[in-house]
Parts: sequence; C-alpha cells; structure tokens
Amino acid sequence: MKIIVKENDIEGGAAAFKIFEKGIKNGAKVLGLATGSTPVTLYQNWVKSDLNCDNLTSINLDEYVGLKPDNPQSYHYFMQKHLFDKKPFKKSYVPDGLEATKDPQAAADHYNQIIKDNPIDIQLLGIGRNGHIAFNEPGSSFDTVTREVKLTDNTIKANSRFFDNIDEVPKSAICMGIANIMSAKKVVLMAFGKNKAHAIKEMIEGPVTEQVPASILQKHLDVVVIIDKAAASELDDKYKK
Ligand code: F6R
Repeated sequence: MKIIVKENDIEGGAAAFKIFEKGIKNGAKVLGLATGSTPVTLYQNWVKSDLNCDNLTSINLDEYVGLKPDNPQSYHYFMQKHLFDKKPFKKSYVPDGLEATKDPQAAADHYNQIIKDNPIDIQLLGIGRNGHIAFNEPGSSFDTVTREVKLTDNTIKANSRFFDNIDEVPKSAICMGIANIMSAKKVVLMAFGKNKAHAIKEMIEGPVTEQVPASILQKHLDVVVIIDKAAASELDDKYKK
C-alpha cells in the first residue's frame, strides 16, 4: 500500500483527484465510485477541472433498498448532485434501489453482470469506523459479490445524520462485495478525521481478517491510501512520511 498523508480533506481531495486524472489520461475507462462525506472534496476538484468524462463509465458501490433515484437521500441523487450534473459520464451505473425492493437477488445479479462486462480500472473507497468498505460490515466474507446486505445498528445510526429521523434510514442496501472491489486494477481509499484513525491503523497494521473488511486491501497489489493527519494519528511513524 502506498500511504499519502495530507494536512486535511481539502488537500486530500486534490491529491485523490490527481491520481484519477493521471489514471484516466493513461487509459482508465471504468471507475468505481463511492458516496458519503469523504469523497466530496475529490468531486469538488473533479467538477472544477477540465477533465473530459464523455468516454468514462462509472459503477457505484452501493444504494439503499427502497429509495427512488430522485430521493435526496439516495446515492443516485448524491452522485448527480456532486458529480454527474456537472460532469456527465458516457454511462453511470448505481444499483437500482427500487428493483431491489421487488427482487433483491435479481438486482444484485444484474449488477454483478455489469461489473463483469465493465472491469473496474480504478475503485474509490471510503472506510467506516468499524473498518467496513461499501456496506461490507465486519464478518462479511472476502468472497462476497454484489448482494442485499442488512445494515447494522451502528451504520444506521451513523447514516441517520443524512435523514430527518433514524426511522427513515433504510434497513438494507444493494452493495458490491469484497471480491468485486478486489477485482479492480487499482484502489484509492480516502479517510479523514480522528474518528477514522483506529480503522486506518487496523487496515494497514493489523492482521488480514474478515472482522476488519478493509484489511483485505493489504493483499491487493495497487492500493493508494489518502488520509489526513488526524486519520493517520494512530499509525506507526514509519507510515507517515
Ligand atoms: C459509500 C460507502 C461507505 C462509506 C463509509 C464512510 O458509498 O459505501 O462505505 O465510504 O461509510 O462514510 P463517510 O465517507 O460518510 O465517512
């Protein structure tokens, strides 16, 4: 893993954008994208750049089951607002939260086929405080592919900040599996803030274990981790150069 420590999320977003820009200039065509607070500064750099996205395909990590694309809490809506409205891609895939209400397995199978047909060149990730990647919570098998996952109480609580009240947070999501994520040629993981410091330490220095889903990234051959000083604060000094 290559670890880049920046002062804050603003600098981290700029550094992440440079990696995507370089990758795209070198031929990357399919990007795996993420939502949440972490990638916002990356997308801000993206929209103000002159990067042409007409030939790019994006595949998002996850979507809540039951939310329509025009629901402001849906990940469809998030991606439109933060990136695609200003930088439309040739094709953008986000799991279909409504199809998933009727037939979660069919929605998941459909998404796995999309990933198979469009192998991901660069996958963007955030990380949860418990080490989750996408909604692959501790205990998820490293063999998982896209499927319906039940959200844990902690994740529902953490994500309730985006909803009017906690009862509105969906109870499940359609989510890429760890095997899908590991199949990407390159992975860029971003994390900012003290509340991510323990997960970052476990991911980088801890054992590879399904109890810390992100720890599997130690086995991937091309991972760049972009963190700020607060998220790096529990790391051994040798990683902070
Ligand atoms: C987002 C996702 C999640 C987040 C993680 C961190 O598509 O799948 O795994 O990356 O929960 O969330 P934030 O960035 O809000 O701290």
